Amino acid sequence: MANAITDAPKREAFASRNVFILSAIGSAVGLGNIWRFPYVAYEGGGGAFLIPYLCALLTAGIPLLFFDYAIGHRFRGSAPLAFRRMHRAAEPLGWWQVLICVIISVYYAVIIAWAAMYTWFSAQLSWGAGNENDFFFTEFLQMGDVAKDGVSTVFVPQVGIPLLVVWAVVVVIMALGVKRGIGRANTILMPLLTVMFIVLVVQSLFLPGAMEGLNSFFTPDWAALADPGVWASAYGHIFFSLSVAFGIMVTYSSYLKRRTDLTGSGLVVGFANSAFEILAGIGVFAALGFMAAAQGSAVSEVASSGIGLAFIAFPTIVSQATGGSIIGVLFFGALVFAGVTSLISVLEVIVAALQDKLGWGRVRTTIAVTVPLALISIALFSTTTALAVLDVADAFVNSFGIMAVALVAVVVVAWLLRRLPMLAEHLNRRSSFRVGRVWILLVGVLAPVVLGYLLVNEIIAKTAEPYGGYPAWFLWVFGWGMVLGLVVVALLLSALPWKGRSRAKLDPEYDRFLAEEQYEPDAETGAVAVSTTAEKGAGA
Ligand code: ALA
Repeated sequence: MANAITDAPKREAFASRNVFILSAIGSAVGLGNIWRFPYVAYEGGGGAFLIPYLCALLTAGIPLLFFDYAIGHRFRGSAPLAFRRMHRAAEPLGWWQVLICVIISVYYAVIIAWAAMYTWFSAQLSWGAGNENDFFFTEFLQMGDVAKDGVSTVFVPQVGIPLLVVWAVVVVIMALGVKRGIGRANTILMPLLTVMFIVLVVQSLFLPGAMEGLNSFFTPDWAALADPGVWASAYGHIFFSLSVAFGIMVTYSSYLKRRTDLTGSGLVVGFANSAFEILAGIGVFAALGFMAAAQGSAVSEVASSGIGLAFIAFPTIVSQATGGSIIGVLFFGALVFAGVTSLISVLEVIVAALQDKLGWGRVRTTIAVTVPLALISIALFSTTTALAVLDVADAFVNSFGIMAVALVAVVVVAWLLRRLPMLAEHLNRRSSFRVGRVWILLVGVLAPVVLGYLLVNEIIAKTAEPYGGYPAWFLWVFGWGMVLGLVVVALLLSALPWKGRSRAKLDPEYDRFLAEEQYEPDAETGAVAVSTTAEKGAGA
């Protein structure tokens, strides 16, 4: 007789642990590493920033990476399913993470589209000497003013068309599935990205003035260590950079075989991400040193904020350096590859969640998710007010989305459900690096304290004065309204029933059978293995 367990749809899987590690690194290494880290590090005291950065990595980043792995792998589901299987009432946490991914995906795609256009512009030197700022804001983005004109509907084709192409590419990758789409894309793009990046960094080091740039990057400003804001930015950056707390690592680890070294994989991913980040800092500051020397100014004067650093400073370097076009193509090409491998991981959180909840097939769910997201992304971010919407959505979803859900998740799991010892035990079953009381204290005590402090600081900062000087109505819609809306919609989605065959996954019997040590899902013959073990479990 067929039972609920054997009826459950077969879960996809990565081809091997190495493909999982590459994909997890592909997710972690993204726009945050290349576009954000160098500036955050510079602002946070240069060389001295590495101290709070390493503390954040070791005390919060890696422990929470293990936390995500343990939940996804133990409960073997997308974020809502994994939390739901941990406890019925925890399902909204998963949907909250899914909705954060909805917001991130719609703006993340447009930065990839800009980078793709700038790869082409670098080859052509399209901006003309000394015109990089105007070129980016006026000619390329055709930036309008939300305070005067409100949210614009004027379409900017040079942004909208590449954005459509970015979505078309990721739809194909996603529709091919975990093994043939996501796994394969990472296996091709990550080695390519690494080679491009090493060539770029080496080439930057040979630019005249490079050493000045590195000096200013690495010379420690010890006073910065006394500023709590610097510690806050180190912790905030680590979450975004490691792709922790927004469902990605829960989802990816659910595609791993049962007998997998989880903590060993996590250490490889965490340190590879940081190595990439520090390499990005070296490359970017060597190039800024060149730019400062060419302009006769100090490096601090040319090191501007995130968006400016990539899309204004780099074109200046491309125009002025010998072989500048190659540097530009490598830099913007690397941004595109790093961005695509992260974007697919963000989208996978959404696709996997709906697949689990609705019991739909891969292609149908991919289309149902990506087509509306692509339309929203194009409608909002290829207009003349795109930059303002992006700026506000990014700032609010990072502070009050990722950090807030991380705080609530650790409090719920550690204190209300008291599942940390069980997750530690799961991590230790097959892992080379064993976790114990220290991990439980870091996740259960230190993480909530640090996250709570950061969140309160952020609320004070963002209510004290209007963020970015934008009008209040605009911040209410795209900032506060958006982050509150995520929580409300997450609760509503949790109230919807699990459809059709996916109901089987909620069966407690299924949970027990998944915990079976000898269970070894096979990508090809999973169904046979499932029924054999399930029958054993059912008969017991
Ligand atoms: N972890 C990804 C990044 O750094 C999202 O961009």
